[in-house]
Amino acid sequence: MQNGEAIKGMAGTSFADEMLLSLENIRKEFPSVTALADVSFDLKRGEVHAVCGENGAGKSTLMKIISGVYTPTSGKIVYKGQTRNFANPLEAENLGIAIIHQELNLVPHLTVAENIYLAREPRRGFLVDRRKLKADAQACLDRLGVAISPDRLVRELSVAQCQMVEIAKALSLNAEVLIMDEPTSSLTEQETRLLFKVIHDLKSSGVGIIYISHRLDEMADIVDRVTVLRDGRYVATSAFAKTSVDEIVSRMVGRSLEEKFPERTSTPSEDVLLRADNLTRHGVFRNVSFTLRRGEILGFAGLMGAGRTEVARAIFGADPLNEGTVTMDGKVLSITSPRDAIAAGLAYLSEDRKAQGLAIKMPVDANMTLANMEAVSNRFGLIDFAAHAKAAEHYVDLLSIKTPSVKQPVRLLSGGNQQKIIIGKWLFRQSRILFFDEPTRGIDVGAKFAIYKIMDELARTGIGVILISSELPEILGMTDRVAVFHNGTITGVLDTARTNQEEIMRYASGYGLSPHRPAAN
Ligand SMILES: Nc1ncnc2c1ncn2[C@@H]1O[C@H](COP(=O)(O)OP(=O)(O)OP(=O)(O)O)[C@@H](O)[C@H]1O
Ligand SMILES: [Mg+2]
Repeated sequence: MQNGEAIKGMAGTSFADEMLLSLENIRKEFPSVTALADVSFDLKRGEVHAVCGENGAGKSTLMKIISGVYTPTSGKIVYKGQTRNFANPLEAENLGIAIIHQELNLVPHLTVAENIYLAREPRRGFLVDRRKLKADAQACLDRLGVAISPDRLVRELSVAQCQMVEIAKALSLNAEVLIMDEPTSSLTEQETRLLFKVIHDLKSSGVGIIYISHRLDEMADIVDRVTVLRDGRYVATSAFAKTSVDEIVSRMVGRSLEEKFPERTSTPSEDVLLRADNLTRHGVFRNVSFTLRRGEILGFAGLMGAGRTEVARAIFGADPLNEGTVTMDGKVLSITSPRDAIAAGLAYLSEDRKAQGLAIKMPVDANMTLANMEAVSNRFGLIDFAAHAKAAEHYVDLLSIKTPSVKQPVRLLSGGNQQKIIIGKWLFRQSRILFFDEPTRGIDVGAKFAIYKIMDELARTGIGVILISSELPEILGMTDRVAVFHNGTITGVLDTARTNQEEIMRYASGYGLSPHRPAAN
């Protein structure tokens, strides 16, 4: 993106504040919840307008109203000068409003190209013109700069790739209003940059973009204005460049948040809880060795794809190991499946929570507790329902999950609150070692703090925590030591208190050893 183009596309310059869309006093009531009360919002041509708010604030609901998924209980939508009531998403789409939903909506057994042009395949006569389908899909993917073949089946793709396909699909609609609900939640930094370049291009061609994200720091590059919602109510709209991140956060939570990380109350003991020696999985990672002490929070830092998740998955029995041993309390573990790992006291909170097992039609309490009790019900037999509801309530409280009750079906909760339920589910297992893989993605600031606090509390009870995170501030704020990965191996294990971002980045990019010596392993 050249700067010139970016400036031309900035709101208020070439598109002269032309209003594209405005919402007036929107209200949306669901049977048990008022999701939106009196929310007003507008979008200009060529601007990127961010919508921020805590999990459950009403962001996705507002977007679903704009895109015709929901009809508002009351209020007015004016699009390009006309009052509209969209009967369904197709009607909004035909008028030029496209949405990238927070939940992925692809059909797994179809190809990438078929997904992009689902229900609007190019045809020759009655038949789908497969050659054109493929060429058009390729053009969309090229525009995004991603290397995914249009012939691949969607079920073979990673979460990030699916997210890119969703974006390509939305781009192919050539919309005038493009809504992006958490588009970057599972993208790498590089993919995010590709997306931002496309956003800049769209801006300069006059598209209005609504952008929802919990990553406030990444917004500075693209966002013109920001609107904050809290508890379904409108709080404020302001120019992004004139609003500090702290201000946005305090509008979101209704108070100012001084601390990003809780004070660590735990200190690791000297006892080694888990020891990995020379773990190797051919072509994926090699000679990975580290120790985890009782009560320690150990970070796994490194770039996306450096092997952190893969090592965690292999220890957890989800993928095979070719070589190496894992020892717990001095005993060599033999884990060949996640079931073995769970029985040994390991838990793994995976990074692709969107795809991970929630029974979305079942209520909150069942999701948190019953699924886990099944795993141990052979041994115990009986299930105490009252105790489970109580446990579920405990975690709903602890994680401030926004739900009318623990009996609410999970599908009716907001995206971020669904993620918190999965975290609650693992906490409920009372494991001795917990892998948290990117635990705070897509989660609002208040809940992040809660999750950090939980990690600290778990560590204080002697549990060993491994925090896999791409956010260096999170690694520096929460861990005792950090193992840095580069290209499938650990290049250094550092004492968190004696390192900094630059040093970690140096190890993560594989550049030479610094004058500092790595901490003893
Ligand atoms: N179909 C529905 N039925 C009942 N309640 C719903 C429904 N959809 C959303 N809600 C509720 O409305 C509120 C707003 O949810 P919404 O999904 O808009 O939040 P959000 O701001 O997008 O949050 P997140 O950051 O977690 O994605 C939440 O309390 C949610 O549980
Ligand atoms: Mg949402």
